[in-house]
This record gives sequence, C-alpha cells and structure tokens, in this order.
Amino acid sequence: MKRITINNIIKKKGVKPITCLTAYSKSISEILDNRCDIILVGDSLGMVLYGMKNTKSIEIETMINHGKVVKKFAKKSLVIIDMPFKSYSNKFTAYKNAKRIMKETKCDGVKLEGGKKIINIVKFLVKKKIPVMGHVGLLPQSSKKFSVKGKSDFEKKKIIEDSVLLSKAGVFCIVIECVIESLAKKITNLIAVPTIGIGASKYCDGQVLVTDDMLGLSNFTPRFVKRYSNLRKIIKKSVNNYCNDVKKRRFPFFKNIYKY
Ligand code: KIV
Repeated sequence: MKRITINNIIKKKGVKPITCLTAYSKSISEILDNRCDIILVGDSLGMVLYGMKNTKSIEIETMINHGKVVKKFAKKSLVIIDMPFKSYSNKFTAYKNAKRIMKETKCDGVKLEGGKKIINIVKFLVKKKIPVMGHVGLLPQSSKKFSVKGKSDFEKKKIIEDSVLLSKAGVFCIVIECVIESLAKKITNLIAVPTIGIGASKYCDGQVLVTDDMLGLSNFTPRFVKRYSNLRKIIKKSVNNYCNDVKKRRFPFFKNIYKY
C-alpha cells in the first residue's frame, strides 16, 4: 500500500471518519504509521516534550528536527507539520519557511492556526502547491486562556466565517479545537473539506488527540481527552521494579550477561 494522499483524506468526508494523532519521535511515528490516516507533528511538542508553558516559543529548527524523524519512520500515513508561531507573519515569510520545512522534513503538508487574518497567506501557500491544514476555534498560538469557543453569537459567527474562508482558500482539511458541539456540526455540514475535531464533538469528519494525553503519559486531562492507557502508572511501576532488581542484585540476570 502506498502513502495516504491529500485526496484520500478529502474523499473521506462524510464517508469514513479520519483518524489523526500527534507524533514527535521515531517510536511513536512507527506505532502510529498505517494505523492513523494522518500523523501530526504538532507544536504541542513545545509543552509536551520541552515543558514550555505554551506553544509560542518553539523554534522552526526544533519543528524541523522532529518533523524529519517522524516522516522518516512513517511510511504510509500522511504526515503534517505545524508551522510555529511567527513563522507565517506574512505571505512571503510563510512561503519561505513552509518551503524550508517541507524540503528538510519531507512532510506532506503544513498546519497554520487562524482564519480571516491569515487567509491571504493560506491562499499564497496553496497557490505555491503547499498543502495546508487549517486550524480554527481555540488557537493555542494566540489564545490567552484555555476555554471553550463558540458560546457567544459573535464567536460562533467568526469561527464559521473563518472555516468557510479557509475551505474556499483551498485548505485540504480543518482542525476544529475546543468548540461547542452544535457549532462543530454546523461547520462540518457547511464546508466542502473534512473537519478534524479535538474537543469538538463526534460530528466532525475525524478526530485528533495529543498522543501523550490519550496514552496517559502527560498529566493534562481536559474533558475532551479520553485516556486509552495509563502509561505514567505503567512506567512508574516498571521503574520501581528495575530499581528494586538493581538494588537486590537481581538484574542483570544470567541471560543478560556475556560470557567468553
Ligand atoms: O499542536 C498540536 O498538537 C495540535 C493538535 C492539538 C491539533 O495542534
């Protein structure tokens, strides 16, 4: 089987739910590959891996390093990478940086946060044949606080407008983050391209989560995260067992040593 294409993703709208998770490393990339339709090298790695307080200070070089390794070990899934904050402040900067990111990582497309404000940038990238994934609703790169979006009529109208503009500008899909269910449903029915929800209800065309959150490796547990595992607990137990074995000289065992 060949790699999933942008067209495969578009054709799934209304037909088959799209699966997406984040990856920042070789091992997670290998595990997600051919299981998820899309692997996202999200700038959430700033918080998840580097302990930053938000995603704003992540450097383009850091994204490129993680993008390279994820793409190298993902042979079938479509790999999309986030453009970091301030790397797309105007269309020329955006194109220069997107071209560099795509060339150095070999990822299949980029993700940008925002709607109307960045629409000319999105149109420019699409015109230059760079596949773009949109991102509306809660925008971690510019939001001051983590809160559900779309409760007021003003916010609702704005998020709908942003989504329609992005869809018309040529994005191949849109991440909708942390909005009320009825709004996600409305946008999904309104626009031509698939919506991928994170905290945006089952009415989206697909779902994305941060892998560390769904595996229980991070201790970030907003309402929209379902924990499929408790890796923190599993790892703690394994580390305790290892330390006890070493202290009691039970490890290394005979099968772990070399004799000559
Ligand atoms: O950075 C990221 O991981 C994301 C997802 C949460 C959609 O943008």
